[in-house]
Amino acid sequence: MKKKLFSILLVIAMVFTLSACGGGGGNNEPASNEPSDQPAASGENLKVGVSMPTQSLQRWNQDGSNMKQQLEAQGYEVDLQYAGDNDIPTQVAQLENMISTGCQVLVIAAIDGTSLTNVVDSAKDAGIAVIAYDRLIMNTDGVAYYATFDNTLVGRMQGEYIRDTLDLDNTSGPYNLEMFTGSPDDNNIVFFFGGALEVLQPYIDSGKLVVPSGQTERDQCAIQSWSSEIAQSRMENLIAAQGYGPNGTKLDAVLCSNDSTAQGVTTALKNAGYTADNFPIITGQDCDKPSVINMKQGTQSMSVFKDTRTLAARVVLMVDSILKGTEPELNDTETYDNGTGVIPSFLCDPVVGTIDNYKELLIDSGYYTEADVTPEE
Ligand code: BGC
Repeated sequence: MKKKLFSILLVIAMVFTLSACGGGGGNNEPASNEPSDQPAASGENLKVGVSMPTQSLQRWNQDGSNMKQQLEAQGYEVDLQYAGDNDIPTQVAQLENMISTGCQVLVIAAIDGTSLTNVVDSAKDAGIAVIAYDRLIMNTDGVAYYATFDNTLVGRMQGEYIRDTLDLDNTSGPYNLEMFTGSPDDNNIVFFFGGALEVLQPYIDSGKLVVPSGQTERDQCAIQSWSSEIAQSRMENLIAAQGYGPNGTKLDAVLCSNDSTAQGVTTALKNAGYTADNFPIITGQDCDKPSVINMKQGTQSMSVFKDTRTLAARVVLMVDSILKGTEPELNDTETYDNGTGVIPSFLCDPVVGTIDNYKELLIDSGYYTEADVTPEE
Protein backbone atom coordinates (compact mmCIF):
# COMPACT_ATOMS: atom_id res chain seq x y z
CA MET A 1 0.00 0.00 0.00
CA LYS A 2 2.81 2.33 1.06
CA LYS A 3 4.65 1.38 -2.08
CA LYS A 4 1.63 2.26 -4.18
CA LEU A 5 1.17 5.62 -2.49
CA PHE A 6 4.82 6.37 -3.01
CA SER A 7 4.54 5.54 -6.71
CA ILE A 8 1.48 7.73 -7.13
CA LEU A 9 3.26 10.62 -5.41
CA LEU A 10 6.26 9.99 -7.61
CA VAL A 11 4.19 10.21 -10.78
CA ILE A 12 2.54 13.43 -9.56
CA ALA A 13 5.97 14.86 -8.74
CA MET A 14 7.20 13.89 -12.20
CA VAL A 15 4.27 15.56 -13.89
CA PHE A 16 5.01 18.75 -11.96
CA THR A 17 8.69 18.55 -12.79
CA LEU A 18 7.79 18.14 -16.42
CA SER A 19 5.50 21.13 -16.55
CA ALA A 20 7.98 23.18 -14.55
CA CYS A 21 10.67 22.57 -17.15
CA GLY A 22 8.25 23.20 -19.98
CA GLY A 23 8.30 19.58 -21.11
CA GLY A 24 7.21 19.85 -24.70
CA GLY A 25 3.70 20.91 -23.73
CA GLY A 26 0.55 20.81 -25.80
CA ASN A 27 1.63 18.98 -28.81
CA ASN A 28 -1.52 18.05 -30.62
CA GLU A 29 -0.39 15.41 -33.03
CA PRO A 30 -2.38 15.10 -36.23
CA ALA A 31 -4.14 11.75 -36.60
CA SER A 32 -1.37 10.52 -38.78
CA ASN A 33 0.58 7.32 -38.95
CA GLU A 34 3.88 9.14 -39.12
CA PRO A 35 4.48 11.34 -36.16
CA SER A 36 6.14 14.34 -37.72
CA ASP A 37 6.22 16.67 -34.77
CA GLN A 38 8.23 15.01 -32.03
CA PRO A 39 7.80 16.35 -28.52
CA ALA A 40 10.50 18.68 -27.36
CA ALA A 41 13.11 17.04 -25.15
CA SER A 42 11.34 16.41 -21.88
CA GLY A 43 12.55 13.25 -20.27
CA GLU A 44 15.25 14.46 -17.90
CA ASN A 45 15.61 12.21 -14.86
CA LEU A 46 12.96 9.84 -16.14
CA LYS A 47 13.83 6.26 -16.91
CA VAL A 48 12.08 4.07 -19.46
CA GLY A 49 12.59 0.31 -19.60
CA VAL A 50 12.55 -1.25 -23.06
CA SER A 51 12.29 -5.04 -23.16
CA MET A 52 12.89 -6.81 -26.48
CA PRO A 53 12.49 -10.57 -27.08
CA THR A 54 15.68 -11.53 -28.92
CA GLN A 55 18.68 -10.23 -30.77
CA SER A 56 18.73 -13.15 -33.15
CA LEU A 57 16.16 -11.62 -35.49
CA GLN A 58 17.11 -8.43 -37.26
CA ARG A 59 13.90 -6.54 -36.69
CA TRP A 60 14.10 -6.57 -32.88
CA ASN A 61 17.61 -5.14 -32.95
CA GLN A 62 16.28 -2.32 -35.05
CA ASP A 63 13.25 -1.85 -32.83
CA GLY A 64 15.46 -1.74 -29.73
CA SER A 65 18.01 0.66 -31.11
CA ASN A 66 15.36 2.95 -32.63
CA MET A 67 13.51 3.10 -29.33
CA LYS A 68 16.68 3.84 -27.37
CA GLN A 69 17.88 6.48 -29.78
CA GLN A 70 14.54 8.27 -29.99
CA LEU A 71 13.87 8.15 -26.23
CA GLU A 72 17.37 9.41 -25.46
CA ALA A 73 16.85 12.23 -27.92
CA GLN A 74 13.94 13.31 -25.72
CA GLY A 75 16.18 13.25 -22.67
CA TYR A 76 14.96 9.97 -21.16
CA GLU A 77 17.32 7.51 -19.58
CA VAL A 78 16.78 4.15 -21.24
CA ASP A 79 17.27 0.65 -19.88
CA LEU A 80 17.20 -1.49 -23.05
CA GLN A 81 17.33 -5.26 -22.56
CA TYR A 82 17.13 -8.20 -24.96
CA ALA A 83 15.89 -11.44 -23.41
CA GLY A 84 18.68 -13.71 -24.66
CA ASP A 85 17.29 -15.66 -27.56
CA ASN A 86 13.58 -15.60 -26.76
CA ASP A 87 14.16 -16.76 -23.19
CA ILE A 88 11.02 -16.15 -21.12
CA PRO A 89 12.57 -16.37 -17.61
CA THR A 90 15.22 -13.87 -18.74
CA GLN A 91 12.55 -11.47 -19.96
CA VAL A 92 10.65 -11.75 -16.66
CA ALA A 93 13.84 -11.21 -14.61
CA GLN A 94 14.81 -8.20 -16.71
CA LEU A 95 11.37 -6.67 -16.21
CA GLU A 96 11.49 -7.27 -12.45
CA ASN A 97 14.81 -5.49 -12.43
CA MET A 98 13.41 -2.55 -14.40
CA ILE A 99 10.57 -2.27 -11.88
CA SER A 100 12.91 -2.29 -8.89
CA THR A 101 15.40 0.15 -10.40
CA GLY A 102 12.93 2.96 -10.91
CA CYS A 103 11.70 2.83 -14.50
CA GLN A 104 8.58 4.94 -14.81
CA VAL A 105 7.28 3.36 -18.03
CA LEU A 106 7.92 -0.10 -19.48
CA VAL A 107 7.79 -0.76 -23.20
CA ILE A 108 7.56 -4.52 -23.74
CA ALA A 109 7.69 -6.71 -26.83
CA ALA A 110 6.67 -10.01 -25.26
CA ILE A 111 8.19 -13.35 -26.20
CA ASP A 112 5.08 -15.17 -25.06
CA GLY A 113 2.08 -12.91 -24.63
CA THR A 114 0.68 -15.10 -21.86
CA SER A 115 3.77 -15.38 -19.68
CA LEU A 116 4.08 -11.80 -18.46
CA THR A 117 0.79 -11.50 -16.61
CA ASN A 118 2.33 -11.54 -13.11
CA VAL A 119 5.23 -9.21 -13.80
CA VAL A 120 2.95 -6.70 -15.55
CA ASP A 121 0.57 -6.90 -12.58
CA SER A 122 3.54 -6.03 -10.33
CA ALA A 123 4.40 -3.07 -12.55
CA LYS A 124 0.83 -1.87 -12.24
CA ASP A 125 0.96 -2.22 -8.45
CA ALA A 126 4.11 -0.12 -8.47
CA GLY A 127 2.34 2.61 -10.46
CA ILE A 128 4.36 1.93 -13.62
CA ALA A 129 2.61 2.26 -16.97
CA VAL A 130 3.14 -0.57 -19.44
CA ILE A 131 3.00 -0.22 -23.21
CA ALA A 132 2.72 -3.47 -25.16
CA TYR A 133 5.03 -3.09 -28.14
CA ASP A 134 4.11 -4.87 -31.37
CA ARG A 135 2.76 -7.96 -29.54
CA LEU A 136 -0.13 -7.83 -27.11
CA ILE A 137 0.42 -8.96 -23.51
CA MET A 138 -2.50 -11.11 -22.44
CA ASN A 139 -4.62 -11.55 -19.31
CA THR A 140 -3.58 -8.51 -17.29
CA ASP A 141 -5.20 -5.12 -16.91
CA GLY A 142 -1.75 -3.67 -16.28
CA VAL A 143 -1.31 -2.93 -19.99
CA ALA A 144 -2.11 0.75 -20.48
CA TYR A 145 -1.69 0.94 -24.26
CA TYR A 146 -0.75 -1.15 -27.26
CA ALA A 147 1.30 0.13 -30.19
CA THR A 148 1.63 -2.09 -33.23
CA PHE A 149 0.96 -2.29 -36.94
CA ASP A 150 -2.38 -3.21 -38.43
CA ASN A 151 -1.74 -6.93 -38.14
CA THR A 152 -4.92 -8.03 -39.92
CA LEU A 153 -3.94 -5.84 -42.85
CA VAL A 154 -0.51 -7.51 -42.92
CA GLY A 155 -2.21 -10.88 -43.40
CA ARG A 156 -4.65 -9.50 -45.95
CA MET A 157 -1.79 -8.03 -47.97
CA GLN A 158 -0.16 -11.44 -48.15
CA GLY A 159 -3.43 -13.12 -49.15
CA GLU A 160 -4.16 -10.45 -51.75
CA TYR A 161 -0.70 -10.84 -53.23
CA ILE A 162 -1.31 -14.56 -53.75
CA ARG A 163 -4.83 -13.92 -55.10
CA ASP A 164 -3.67 -11.28 -57.56
CA THR A 165 -0.49 -13.00 -58.70
CA LEU A 166 -2.33 -16.23 -59.43
CA ASP A 167 -5.15 -14.12 -60.89
CA LEU A 168 -7.64 -16.25 -59.02
CA ASP A 169 -10.62 -14.26 -60.22
CA ASN A 170 -9.87 -14.77 -63.90
CA THR A 171 -8.24 -18.17 -64.18
CA SER A 172 -9.61 -21.56 -63.36
CA GLY A 173 -6.72 -23.20 -61.52
CA PRO A 174 -6.78 -25.23 -59.40
CA TYR A 175 -3.63 -24.02 -57.69
CA ASN A 176 -1.72 -25.75 -54.92
CA LEU A 177 -1.00 -23.79 -51.75
CA GLU A 178 0.65 -24.54 -48.41
CA MET A 179 0.53 -22.22 -45.42
CA PHE A 180 2.94 -21.26 -42.63
CA THR A 181 2.34 -18.87 -39.78
CA GLY A 182 4.31 -17.90 -36.68
CA SER A 183 4.68 -18.82 -33.06
CA PRO A 184 1.58 -20.18 -31.32
CA ASP A 185 2.38 -18.05 -28.25
CA ASP A 186 2.31 -14.82 -30.30
CA ASN A 187 -1.15 -13.26 -30.35
CA ASN A 188 -0.25 -11.55 -33.63
CA ILE A 189 -0.65 -14.79 -35.59
CA VAL A 190 -4.39 -14.74 -34.94
CA PHE A 191 -4.48 -11.57 -37.02
CA PHE A 192 -1.80 -12.41 -39.59
CA PHE A 193 -3.25 -15.83 -40.38
CA GLY A 194 -6.82 -14.61 -39.98
CA GLY A 195 -6.25 -11.67 -42.33
CA ALA A 196 -4.70 -13.90 -45.01
CA LEU A 197 -7.54 -16.40 -44.76
CA GLU A 198 -10.15 -13.65 -45.02
CA VAL A 199 -8.87 -13.29 -48.57
CA LEU A 200 -7.95 -16.90 -49.42
CA GLN A 201 -10.67 -18.96 -47.71
CA PRO A 202 -13.36 -18.36 -50.38
CA TYR A 203 -11.00 -19.73 -53.04
CA ILE A 204 -10.14 -22.72 -50.84
CA ASP A 205 -13.86 -23.32 -50.33
CA SER A 206 -14.55 -23.17 -54.05
CA GLY A 207 -11.67 -25.56 -54.81
CA LYS A 208 -9.72 -23.05 -56.90
CA LEU A 209 -7.01 -23.14 -54.24
CA VAL A 210 -6.12 -26.57 -52.91
CA VAL A 211 -4.02 -27.25 -49.83
CA PRO A 212 -2.76 -30.76 -50.68
CA SER A 213 -1.47 -31.47 -47.16
CA GLY A 214 -4.92 -30.68 -45.78
CA GLN A 215 -3.17 -28.59 -43.10
CA THR A 216 -5.33 -25.49 -43.00
CA GLU A 217 -5.81 -24.91 -39.28
CA ARG A 218 -3.72 -22.20 -37.62
CA ASP A 219 -2.26 -24.70 -35.15
CA GLN A 220 -1.16 -26.98 -37.96
CA CYS A 221 0.60 -24.13 -39.74
CA ALA A 222 2.17 -22.52 -36.65
CA ILE A 223 5.96 -22.43 -36.32
CA GLN A 224 7.29 -22.28 -32.75
CA SER A 225 9.38 -19.15 -32.08
CA TRP A 226 9.07 -18.16 -35.74
CA SER A 227 12.09 -20.41 -36.30
CA SER A 228 13.54 -20.65 -39.82
CA GLU A 229 14.87 -24.12 -39.02
CA ILE A 230 11.47 -25.42 -37.92
CA ALA A 231 9.82 -23.86 -40.99
CA GLN A 232 12.46 -25.49 -43.20
CA SER A 233 11.88 -28.89 -41.67
CA ARG A 234 8.08 -28.61 -41.96
CA MET A 235 8.49 -27.67 -45.65
CA GLU A 236 10.86 -30.61 -46.14
CA ASN A 237 8.23 -32.92 -44.67
CA LEU A 238 5.58 -31.45 -46.98
CA ILE A 239 7.89 -31.89 -49.97
CA ALA A 240 8.48 -35.53 -49.03
CA ALA A 241 4.81 -36.24 -48.35
CA GLN A 242 3.33 -34.47 -51.37
CA GLY A 243 6.16 -34.97 -53.85
CA TYR A 244 6.51 -31.24 -54.54
CA GLY A 245 9.33 -30.33 -56.91
CA PRO A 246 10.02 -28.62 -60.22
CA ASN A 247 9.40 -32.00 -61.87
CA GLY A 248 6.97 -33.31 -59.29
CA THR A 249 3.71 -32.15 -57.79
CA LYS A 250 3.06 -28.54 -58.70
CA LEU A 251 3.35 -26.05 -55.83
CA ASP A 252 2.06 -22.62 -56.77
CA ALA A 253 2.29 -20.63 -53.56
CA VAL A 254 3.39 -20.79 -49.95
CA LEU A 255 1.81 -18.32 -47.58
CA CYS A 256 4.42 -17.40 -44.96
CA SER A 257 3.43 -14.98 -42.23
CA ASN A 258 6.91 -13.47 -41.94
CA ASP A 259 10.40 -13.43 -43.37
CA SER A 260 12.08 -15.80 -40.92
CA THR A 261 9.59 -18.55 -41.80
CA ALA A 262 9.79 -17.61 -45.51
CA GLN A 263 13.58 -18.02 -45.40
CA GLY A 264 13.27 -21.55 -43.98
CA VAL A 265 10.68 -22.50 -46.60
CA THR A 266 12.86 -21.01 -49.34
CA THR A 267 15.88 -23.04 -48.26
CA ALA A 268 13.83 -26.26 -48.37
CA LEU A 269 12.49 -25.41 -51.83
CA LYS A 270 15.94 -24.54 -53.18
CA ASN A 271 17.25 -27.85 -51.82
CA ALA A 272 14.38 -29.57 -53.65
CA GLY A 273 15.64 -28.12 -56.92
CA TYR A 274 13.49 -25.02 -57.41
CA THR A 275 15.22 -22.06 -59.07
CA ALA A 276 14.19 -18.47 -59.73
CA ASP A 277 12.57 -19.59 -62.99
CA ASN A 278 10.07 -21.88 -61.36
CA PHE A 279 9.92 -20.74 -57.75
CA PRO A 280 6.49 -20.79 -56.09
CA ILE A 281 5.06 -17.51 -54.79
CA ILE A 282 6.44 -16.94 -51.29
CA THR A 283 5.08 -14.20 -49.03
CA GLY A 284 6.80 -12.66 -46.01
CA GLN A 285 6.84 -9.78 -43.56
CA ASP A 286 9.46 -7.38 -42.16
CA CYS A 287 11.62 -6.80 -45.25
CA ASP A 288 14.54 -8.43 -43.44
CA LYS A 289 17.79 -8.02 -45.30
CA PRO A 290 18.09 -11.74 -46.28
CA SER A 291 14.53 -11.64 -47.60
CA VAL A 292 15.19 -8.52 -49.67
CA ILE A 293 18.17 -10.38 -51.13
CA ASN A 294 15.89 -13.36 -51.82
CA MET A 295 13.46 -11.01 -53.56
CA LYS A 296 16.30 -9.75 -55.74
CA GLN A 297 17.27 -13.34 -56.51
CA GLY A 298 13.70 -14.35 -57.35
CA THR A 299 13.22 -16.74 -54.43
CA GLN A 300 10.79 -14.63 -52.38
CA SER A 301 7.96 -12.73 -54.02
CA MET A 302 6.95 -10.11 -51.50
CA SER A 303 7.33 -8.96 -47.95
CA VAL A 304 5.37 -6.52 -45.81
CA PHE A 305 7.39 -3.53 -44.66
CA LYS A 306 6.74 -2.33 -41.13
CA ASP A 307 8.95 0.67 -40.57
CA THR A 308 10.27 0.21 -37.04
CA ARG A 309 11.25 3.89 -36.96
CA THR A 310 7.58 4.85 -37.24
CA LEU A 311 6.53 2.46 -34.49
CA ALA A 312 9.31 3.67 -32.19
CA ALA A 313 8.36 7.30 -32.81
CA ARG A 314 4.75 6.49 -32.00
CA VAL A 315 5.74 4.81 -28.75
CA VAL A 316 7.92 7.77 -27.74
CA LEU A 317 4.85 9.97 -28.13
CA MET A 318 2.87 7.55 -25.96
CA VAL A 319 5.56 7.56 -23.26
CA ASP A 320 5.62 11.33 -23.34
CA SER A 321 1.84 11.60 -22.99
CA ILE A 322 1.75 9.13 -20.12
CA LEU A 323 4.40 11.02 -18.19
CA LYS A 324 2.62 14.30 -18.81
CA GLY A 325 -0.62 12.79 -17.60
CA THR A 326 -2.38 13.25 -20.93
CA GLU A 327 -4.13 10.75 -23.17
CA PRO A 328 -1.95 9.60 -26.10
CA GLU A 329 -3.32 9.66 -29.59
CA LEU A 330 -5.02 6.35 -30.40
CA ASN A 331 -6.67 5.03 -33.53
CA ASP A 332 -8.15 1.70 -32.48
CA THR A 333 -10.20 0.98 -29.40
CA GLU A 334 -12.02 -2.12 -30.65
CA THR A 335 -9.71 -4.79 -31.97
CA TYR A 336 -7.26 -5.92 -29.33
CA ASP A 337 -8.87 -7.59 -26.33
CA ASN A 338 -6.25 -9.15 -24.05
CA GLY A 339 -8.71 -11.12 -21.95
CA THR A 340 -9.33 -8.27 -19.50
CA GLY A 341 -10.93 -5.94 -22.04
CA VAL A 342 -9.91 -4.01 -25.11
CA ILE A 343 -6.49 -2.36 -24.85
CA PRO A 344 -6.51 1.10 -26.46
CA SER A 345 -4.15 0.95 -29.41
CA PHE A 346 -2.36 2.82 -32.11
CA LEU A 347 -1.96 0.81 -35.32
CA CYS A 348 0.68 1.93 -37.80
CA ASP A 349 0.31 1.22 -41.52
CA PRO A 350 2.16 -1.69 -43.12
CA VAL A 351 3.21 -1.44 -46.79
CA VAL A 352 3.71 -4.17 -49.40
CA GLY A 353 7.37 -4.49 -50.39
CA THR A 354 8.45 -6.12 -53.66
CA ILE A 355 11.37 -5.99 -56.03
CA ASP A 356 9.57 -3.13 -57.82
CA ASN A 357 9.43 -0.73 -54.90
CA TYR A 358 12.19 -1.81 -52.50
CA LYS A 359 14.48 1.02 -53.62
CA GLU A 360 11.98 3.72 -52.79
CA LEU A 361 10.72 1.99 -49.64
CA LEU A 362 13.96 0.82 -48.10
CA ILE A 363 16.94 2.52 -49.72
CA ASP A 364 15.70 6.03 -50.49
CA SER A 365 14.08 6.21 -47.06
CA GLY A 366 17.45 5.48 -45.44
CA TYR A 367 16.30 2.21 -43.85
CA TYR A 368 19.05 0.22 -45.58
CA THR A 369 21.90 0.95 -47.92
CA GLU A 370 21.99 -0.90 -51.22
CA ALA A 371 25.10 -2.69 -49.90
CA ASP A 372 23.04 -4.05 -46.99
CA VAL A 373 20.84 -5.95 -49.43
CA THR A 374 23.42 -6.94 -51.99
CA PRO A 375 24.25 -10.65 -51.99
CA GLU A 376 27.85 -11.52 -51.22
CA GLU A 377 29.84 -12.63 -54.28
C1 BGC B 1 6.13 -9.50 -35.44
C2 BGC B 1 6.76 -9.77 -36.79
C3 BGC B 1 7.97 -10.68 -36.63
C4 BGC B 1 7.64 -11.88 -35.78
C5 BGC B 1 8.86 -12.70 -35.47
C6 BGC B 1 5.80 -10.81 -34.78
O1 BGC B 1 5.17 -10.61 -33.56
O2 BGC B 1 4.97 -8.71 -35.59
O3 BGC B 1 7.14 -8.55 -37.38
O4 BGC B 1 8.41 -11.12 -37.87
O5 BGC B 1 7.01 -11.51 -34.58
O6 BGC B 1 9.74 -12.02 -34.67
